[in-house]
Amino acid sequence: MPPAAAVIGTPAASCQGALLAEARHQDTVFMMGDNPALPKMPERPTLKDFFLLRFGQIPRMHLLQSARVARENGLGEKVIMACLLHDIAIAGLLSANHGYWGAQLVGPYVDAEVAWAIEKHEALRYFPDESVGYRYPQAYVDYFGADYNPPGYIRREHEAARRHRWYMTSRLVTINDIYSFDPAAVVDYDEFEDIVGRNFRQPEEGLGFDGSPVAHMWRTMIWPNNFL
Ligand SMILES: [Fe+2]
Ligand SMILES: [Fe+2]
Repeated sequence: MPPAAAVIGTPAASCQGALLAEARHQDTVFMMGDNPALPKMPERPTLKDFFLLRFGQIPRMHLLQSARVARENGLGEKVIMACLLHDIAIAGLLSANHGYWGAQLVGPYVDAEVAWAIEKHEALRYFPDESVGYRYPQAYVDYFGADYNPPGYIRREHEAARRHRWYMTSRLVTINDIYSFDPAAVVDYDEFEDIVGRNFRQPEEGLGFDGSPVAHMWRTMIWPNNFL
């Protein structure tokens, strides 16, 4: 059964009745465990396991390439860490409101400034800042059309973020947010093991099992197809 958020407003939303009827057959059950189509996650999953065993090639490389560019630009570890995680929600959870989902997902494990930068990059992406050479992305013209206008809540978030003391941390995420996906450019996750080790508090019980307020979000990525 696909998640409601994924199918509302699409023809797939109507599949739910048929699936519920199918579950009444004696030999049919909904998925409630490991999906055999996915690589099995270790008992105590780490951030690396999610990158390698759950995230698709395009979002994984987008995150790794953005972090690599930030490192090549000589930026600090907080910025590199924020770049490495900035679209983690798109990679494993949800695209709509991805900055907010992503910031919550990593909030208990990173510095508050890193989580803040991830949250605000979503709004800042829409607004140029000439003083640091950030222009409206051509990718957004391609994706949303030349006449797209961000809604009021995004405008207000941008204005408030601009006045915040961590503004430049989030702005640097948008500057290093690389849209030119080059399938030939392979970046190894291990390039960032040292930075992750210093900037991500990996829980001993594994992500998803540490009883944190966001553990369920990691479990959703471990078992994304479970009925409940
Ligand atoms: Fe993003
Ligand atoms: Fe991005």
